[in-house]
Amino acid sequence: MCGIFAYLNYQVPRTRKEIFETLVKGLQRLEYRGYDSAGIAVDGPDKTSTDITSNTICLIKKTGKVKALDEELYKKDTLDLDAELFTHFGIAHTRWATHGEPSAVNSHPHRSDKENEFVVIHNGIITNYKELKAYLINKGYEFESETDTEVIPKLIKYVYDNRESDNLSFSKLVERVIQQLEGAFALVFKSRHFPSEAVCTRRGSPLLIGVRSEHELLTENISIQYNSGHSKEGVIEKNSHNRPDCSDSINSVGDGRAVEYYFASDASAIIEHTNKVLYLEDNDIAAVTGGKLSIHRMSRKAGEDPVRAIQTLQMEMQQIMKGNFDAFMQKEIFEQPESVVNTMRGRICFDSNKVVLGGLKDHLKEIKRCRRLIMIGCGTSFYATVATRQILEELTELPVMVELASDFLDRNTPVYRDDVCFFISQSGETADTLMALHYCKNRGALTVGITNTVGSSICRETDCGVHINAGPEIGVASTKAYTSQIVSLIMFCLMMSEDRLSLQNRRTEILNGLRVLPEMIKKVLTLDEKIKTIANELYQQRSLLVMGRGFNYATCLEGALKIKEITYMHSEGILAGELKHGPLALIDKDMPVIMVIMKDSCYVKCQNALQQVTARSGRPIILCCQDDHEVIKNAYKTIELPQTVDCLQGILSIIPLQLLSFHLAVLRGYDVDCPRNLAKSVTVE
Ligand code: F6R
Repeated sequence: MCGIFAYLNYQVPRTRKEIFETLVKGLQRLEYRGYDSAGIAVDGPDKTSTDITSNTICLIKKTGKVKALDEELYKKDTLDLDAELFTHFGIAHTRWATHGEPSAVNSHPHRSDKENEFVVIHNGIITNYKELKAYLINKGYEFESETDTEVIPKLIKYVYDNRESDNLSFSKLVERVIQQLEGAFALVFKSRHFPSEAVCTRRGSPLLIGVRSEHELLTENISIQYNSGHSKEGVIEKNSHNRPDCSDSINSVGDGRAVEYYFASDASAIIEHTNKVLYLEDNDIAAVTGGKLSIHRMSRKAGEDPVRAIQTLQMEMQQIMKGNFDAFMQKEIFEQPESVVNTMRGRICFDSNKVVLGGLKDHLKEIKRCRRLIMIGCGTSFYATVATRQILEELTELPVMVELASDFLDRNTPVYRDDVCFFISQSGETADTLMALHYCKNRGALTVGITNTVGSSICRETDCGVHINAGPEIGVASTKAYTSQIVSLIMFCLMMSEDRLSLQNRRTEILNGLRVLPEMIKKVLTLDEKIKTIANELYQQRSLLVMGRGFNYATCLEGALKIKEITYMHSEGILAGELKHGPLALIDKDMPVIMVIMKDSCYVKCQNALQQVTARSGRPIILCCQDDHEVIKNAYKTIELPQTVDCLQGILSIIPLQLLSFHLAVLRGYDVDCPRNLAKSVTVE
């Protein structure tokens, strides 16, 4: 996930070296989020006056670690490191590639032009960037990167070049820019035209500002300036030239005396400098001019708070790094309400029931004509294919094979030109999956990548694909990638079935389920304490069986994998239909059993399995639908989940097992994020 950090020192003398150190340290604090390149923008060597002709902005960008960027900074012999800058604004960014591979040119800050008149750092995704880019290219602007972000600096220059008056403020320019943007963003702008001024804004991505001053801050709260006449205009030409400002009664932070501001996407980068912070809200535009911070926004909605309070952060550095979580795995489990939204963002139109996966749309006809779909992956990624096989068959009306990459290769599985082969991989680098990809390519099949890592081998080598956009997964045990893989494959099903009349009711039902999925995930996450109590009872056991069938069979396999990989307990996912063909022999009063019994087409059959277990004195802990008394009365313990559409239920039912494995591992004293013998990316056969 990308990271934003920026630093403004006003009337506080800092050498350029000190400024570099602050920027680099800020980026290092964001490293844990995962990234593939980094960059900064600072004032250039000739900064001696406010005259635009002598102001320059120096951009330094590098792929790889922040350390590599840091080394690069000191290679710039044009920059006097000992020069003291009384007032200065520097911006810095770590990029996690989404549009375009990791490279210096794709990394941030992005610029308006070769003279670096405006430079911008961005977190989030601009969903209408193609339209904006086409518009700006038509106006003669030249693009150098493959990113969505680059439209932003170009757009601000366009607005600046076409401004109606020389008095237009920097923040006003930014306001006009964000009126044209769709998607999610946190943005920080720097400009040669507005030396030592900072403007930042957000919509959908977090951004906060830390304030440090030797003297008492002028105010503890900051009032918001509202503009009137704020309706969003769709076309750039029609832009809001005569939008009046309502600039009275502004109560700003800072009074022209020495002050320092820190801007970041995450408090972890700020806390070591100051604990006084101000969180921006969507559509706030914050500007620092002459050392004073003011905030304005386009309009005030009913009930909206007109002040932004300066808060005192109570947290310790270490805590914030993992955002109050003890482990990255835990953090990633709790991120799932947002990560599934990111997977769907810009792809589903709930009003028209339309799903567009940009990376597949040009191949859709070919996919519809194919003779079968072969879904290939390893571990958790394979289980995501098991979880979606039934809905794939139902909505694509094609035969679907699900394959473990290693076994698929061992068998020399016949593959034909009219097959479509999907490669599902969080890292996009898993050797077995990659080899299966080569195998299928050599046989002429169309290859589709479903990955979480832009620029990865699987992503590059497949004919087309989908980025699941779950954000970087740092914990070795995969959690949020699994749920996002399922969502991606279900979106594929919905796209394939759009023109099938007989499937419309089913599609609508699923789309309605996807719409409320984040809220349902949040509800499941509230069960954490209860699950911890269950873990307390189970953690000294040697073995744990997980049983279910139908849509929830994958939950059993994936749940058992989570348990074995981080708790080192033996755990097995068992198809409930197979119980009487062998596994029933394991059941007695001492064998811990978890059963997944949801209200779907397998409900009655699962209840039969439950009878078989209880008849052998088994004491099942049951994952079931809320208030399902029929099941609850036969359970030793229950974890009651909200009910959703059958094919989405697995997204909810896996979460208690992710949480259970986490708590079991903690209680057993293991390092949750780095389980023994395992790596995050398995690049060997
Ligand atoms: C389990 C886990 C592994 C991976 C597997 C495939 O928690 O993380 O089973 O799912 O190694 O990795 P990717 O998805 O990167 O291909």
